[in-house]
Amino acid sequence: MWQNIEAAPADSILGLTDAFKNDQNPQKVNLGVGVYKDEKSNTPILGVVKAAEKLLLEKESSKSYLPISGDPAYAREVQKLLFGASNEVVTSGRAVTVHAPGGTGALRVGGDLLKKFYPDAKVWISQPTWANHKGVFTTAGFGLSEYGYYDSESKSLDFKAMVTSLEAVPAGDIVLLHACCHNPSGVDLNAEQWREVAAIGKEKGWIPFLDFAYQGFGDGVDEDRCAVVEFAATGIDFLVASSFSKNFGLYNERVGALTVISPSAAEAGVAMSHLKATIRVIYSNPPAHGGLVVATILSDPDLHKLWLEELAAMRERIKAMRVALVEGLSKRGVSGDFSYITAQRGMFSFSGLSDDVVAWLRANKSIYVVGGGRINLAGLTSANIDYVCDAIAEILSSAS
Ligand code: LMR
Repeated sequence: MWQNIEAAPADSILGLTDAFKNDQNPQKVNLGVGVYKDEKSNTPILGVVKAAEKLLLEKESSKSYLPISGDPAYAREVQKLLFGASNEVVTSGRAVTVHAPGGTGALRVGGDLLKKFYPDAKVWISQPTWANHKGVFTTAGFGLSEYGYYDSESKSLDFKAMVTSLEAVPAGDIVLLHACCHNPSGVDLNAEQWREVAAIGKEKGWIPFLDFAYQGFGDGVDEDRCAVVEFAATGIDFLVASSFSKNFGLYNERVGALTVISPSAAEAGVAMSHLKATIRVIYSNPPAHGGLVVATILSDPDLHKLWLEELAAMRERIKAMRVALVEGLSKRGVSGDFSYITAQRGMFSFSGLSDDVVAWLRANKSIYVVGGGRINLAGLTSANIDYVCDAIAEILSSAS
């Protein structure tokens, strides 16, 4: 069957992890995939997750199927976390949430749902965006266009270009937005800018689809929700794909959610019926464990508090690594202003390293960086930061 078929290329992010695992160099450093590492380069199970799993082990009494949309208690907790418990969207019932297998699963369910009703729509993605966005939405059958976002000269947001592009998006097209901690750039909008973008969406009639995979990794759980809150306030239809891979460290449990927000609870009910029909033919109903863990933690005040503390510790360690990287590079006399690294938010920095430098770092130093120069700051530790800074200084000074 496969004799005359060429092998597919390795995934640009997850393929790096495979290559990293096979690398025998004891000094190897993985700055590729967006996975949190602690000071010992481990991806730990959060203490609060262990505590919730212990409770579940004692009280879980059945492994029967979940409803197609997942556990209703999970959906309630997800909405409270996304919008804040007192947000009108949560209390009015005009949002419906399904448990999807990870953020990627939520994006794909959303893509399949939208394709049914907007077959000729285009999906607008930021320039740049997460590599997998392209694959998810083209596989769902959509054509893609790009909107302006990142200015590679100033290494910051090009808000003017973004507004200009979004004002020209036709009604009924879909605009994919990163709600916080933009992947790959780490460059975000502020609350005022989100309000402006939401107003453009309302005026022009395009469909906002927010990818919200890093809540809590920017400034905090409450601060990071400003994009979804601004869109909720417009009263228009929109979608949110969210993930608990990063903020609960539940990567391999595939726990995410798709939330569809409508102008009224009656419309939201119709949306839910189509969500169920969409999911039934893909994976039927979601895996339970990760969702049970998240719902257990979010609904228990003590566990919730402990989770916020552990999340803050992850966020602060990443911020400390941003500072250490900037200091390490300037200490080694690497020319250039690297202050943009500390201004960026979330797990990633768009380092500005060229693809040649990225290839050199991998071939000569076993340092793995995603093509385009995206660095996962969480892969840096006080044990490897000098090695990484020395390597970057070596290649950049030889190139200059
Ligand atoms: C990343 O961007 O590295 C993560 O979101 C993991 C993935 O699935 O690509």
